[in-house]
Amino acid sequence: MSLVNGKSMLDAARAGSYAIGAFNTNNLEWTRGILAAAQEKGVPVLIQTSMGAAKYMGGYELCLHLVQDTVKSMGITVPVVMHLDHGNYEAAKECIEVGYNSVMFDGHDLPFAENLEKTKEIVALAHAKGISVEAEVGSIGGEEDGIVGAGELADVEEAKTLAATGIDYLACGIGNIHGQYPANWTGLNLDRLSELAAVIKTPLVLHGGSGIPKDQIQKAVKMGISKVNVNTECQLVFAAATRKYIEEGKDQEGKGFDPRKLFAPGTKAITELVEDRIEWFGTEAAK
Ligand code: 13P
Repeated sequence: MSLVNGKSMLDAARAGSYAIGAFNTNNLEWTRGILAAAQEKGVPVLIQTSMGAAKYMGGYELCLHLVQDTVKSMGITVPVVMHLDHGNYEAAKECIEVGYNSVMFDGHDLPFAENLEKTKEIVALAHAKGISVEAEVGSIGGEEDGIVGAGELADVEEAKTLAATGIDYLACGIGNIHGQYPANWTGLNLDRLSELAAVIKTPLVLHGGSGIPKDQIQKAVKMGISKVNVNTECQLVFAAATRKYIEEGKDQEGKGFDPRKLFAPGTKAITELVEDRIEWFGTEAAK
């Protein structure tokens, strides 16, 4: 199946009170691991690249071709969206040019009026090419590939104004943090989510999906979260499975050092994690 934009699948998720997983890729193994899980479960999926991961891999065009060609070679039949995660203005424009299906313009660190203006420009450019757009209001806490947010709660009026630009999905800070949650984290602010969801019908996005307890994620999904971003958990399970393989000395048995063998346990761990999260998010309701 060829890649699709995210609009109709996320509108359906919001209407059906389930969410679709958006998983960050870093390389071929990540891409294959994520796609295998979505195919096995028979559900749509978003594969996303941060600006840093795209730079690491060799640029947006390469990332798009990697996902497109892997979808084709694996015979993937579920809908797959190629999405830019936390793009600045230039990155969003470049990904629209290159042909991503979906872009996030993250203007949370700009004065709100400028975030609004630039979001409008990106929406016009993207929609002219059938590409969907995510915007952000209220920063997500923590740090991801150099994008740092202090973790404030989204202002409801600002969120309403940003949603009215015609964006397709909205990321809003509700106490969520990128990376691992500190021990003293007080949890998602579901009251703020409820206020946002009451006035905004645009699908809402939960960033920092790694490490949030299942019951909190499921409550948030029922309340209007339609896309959940997961990155760190894939990294952790990949690293743990690879470490186990090496600590068991398997890289030193026969040709166990061959990357096709060395990376296999980590890739499988990503597939298992993604399948698990698809169940948490209730994505099977999309079928
Ligand atoms: P985690 O790394 O915390 O899962 O966050 C991912 C994310 O929000 C990507 O935008």
